[in-house]
Amino acid sequence: METESLRELYIEELKDLYSAEKQLVRALPKMAKNATNPQLQEAFTNHLAETEGHVARLEEIFESLESSPRGKKCVGMEGLIEEANELLEEHDEEDVLDAGLISKAQHVEHYEMAGYGTVRSWAQILGEAHHAELLQQTLEEEENADKLLTQIAESAVNIEAETGDDDEEEEEKPVKSSRGGQRASYGGSSRKKASR
Ligand SMILES: [Fe+2]
Repeated sequence: METESLRELYIEELKDLYSAEKQLVRALPKMAKNATNPQLQEAFTNHLAETEGHVARLEEIFESLESSPRGKKCVGMEGLIEEANELLEEHDEEDVLDAGLISKAQHVEHYEMAGYGTVRSWAQILGEAHHAELLQQTLEEEENADKLLTQIAESAVNIEAETGDDDEEEEEKPVKSSRGGQRASYGGSSRKKASR
């Protein structure tokens, strides 16, 4: 009984992720086009190819469930993409826009990571070992995409956005953080600002 309802919830969540990934496939080319940092542009383009792979993995799972992935709209992803579009309309200073795009993309990655972590665990409980494996692969790609965005932000984009000058020498190397959210670099730059 309980497993039945968890299975239903599992399928609903998978449909939600499918909708999220499909929306992202449509949104990423615009983000890549608007990014000016070449590393960031490449990261978006590569993640588009990965995202198509995420769609394919979900389709494989639905095939094995003999069910359709369609019929649900992920409003969470819709909102995150809407925020990215607002950013593009409101900012046109290139370095600042890059920093903003990274932030929006990291919100997307964390949202997906939460979803994939959940369905991966549910797949294990439901005895769907192969699904769990596929979902884990996608989860790891989302985590790597997130880490790469942190790296790009901390090595160049945040600094350029703050100085407003691409050629200026870096005065202070930001501390590397192991996960997303760029916490370490916020600490670094606020210390820099404190010395008026
Ligand atoms: Fe994805």
